[in-house]
Amino acid sequence: MSNLVLDNVSYKYRNAESAAVKTASCEFEEGQFYAIIGPSGSGKSTMLSMLAGLDLPTSGEVRFKDESLSGLDLDRYRRESITMIFQAFHLFPLMTVLENVCYPMELCGVHPKKAKERAKPLLESVGIGEEKHNRFPANLSGGEQQRVAIARALATGAKTVLADEPTGNLDAANTVNVIEILRALAHEKGYCVVVVTHDPEVSDMADIVYRMKDGVLTRER
Ligand SMILES: Nc1ncnc2c1ncn2[C@@H]1O[C@H](COP(=O)(O)OP(=O)(O)O)[C@@H](O)[C@H]1O
Ligand SMILES: [Mg+2]
Repeated sequence: MSNLVLDNVSYKYRNAESAAVKTASCEFEEGQFYAIIGPSGSGKSTMLSMLAGLDLPTSGEVRFKDESLSGLDLDRYRRESITMIFQAFHLFPLMTVLENVCYPMELCGVHPKKAKERAKPLLESVGIGEEKHNRFPANLSGGEQQRVAIARALATGAKTVLADEPTGNLDAANTVNVIEILRALAHEKGYCVVVVTHDPEVSDMADIVYRMKDGVLTRER
C-alpha cells in the first residue's frame, strides 16, 4: 500500500482553456523524500493542493492509504493526516515561537501544558534553542522561521509532509539546512516528504524526482 497516490489525476480551473494538471499518476511512499520540479506555472502547486485535499481533481483519484480523498472528511484529513509547509512560512505573527508550535496540537485537543512539553523538544530538534522560544516570528531570521514552521508541522504527528517551495525565501546555507531536516525526517523517522521546488539544489538532495511541464508529470530519476 502506498502512502499517497495520484491516479490519472487532472485538474482544470474554471474558465481555463486547458488543464493545469493532465492525467498525472504517481505514488509517494513513507521513508522517501520526493522533489517535484518544473518551471513557474507548470502545475506544481495545483498538484500539491490536490494531495493536500484542498482541491478535488476534475477527473482521476487521489488516495491516502488506499482510501479515496473524495470519500474522506477533508478537514480532518488536513488536520490529522498531512501537514503543509509554505514558502512564506505562514507563522502566526502575534504568537510566540512556542505558541506557534503548540497551537495545532491544542486544536487537536492536546492540553496546553502537554502541548508545551511536546513543542520544546521539537523546536530543539530543528535547532531553535530555548532562548528563542518566547520571541515573535518577526524577530527570527528567515531560516529560523522556516525551522519553526517545520517544528509546527511535526507537532501534530502527521507523517506526510507537503511543502511548496519551502526554501524559496532562504539563502543557500539555510536551504541546505532546511532540506537536511526534511530529508532526515524521511530517512530516520519514516515520513513521506514531498517538496515542490524550482531549486536544483533541493532536487539534488531528493531520493526521487518528478518533473512537471505544462501540467504533464514525468519521473526524472
Ligand atoms: N486559482 C486559479 N485560477 C485559475 N488558474 C489558475 C489558478 N491557480 C493557478 N492557475 C493556473 O494554473 C497553472 C498552474 O499553476 P500552478 O499550479 O500555480 O503552477 P506552479 O506552482 O508550477 O507555478 C498556471 O497556468 C496558473 O496560471
Ligand atoms: Mg507554485
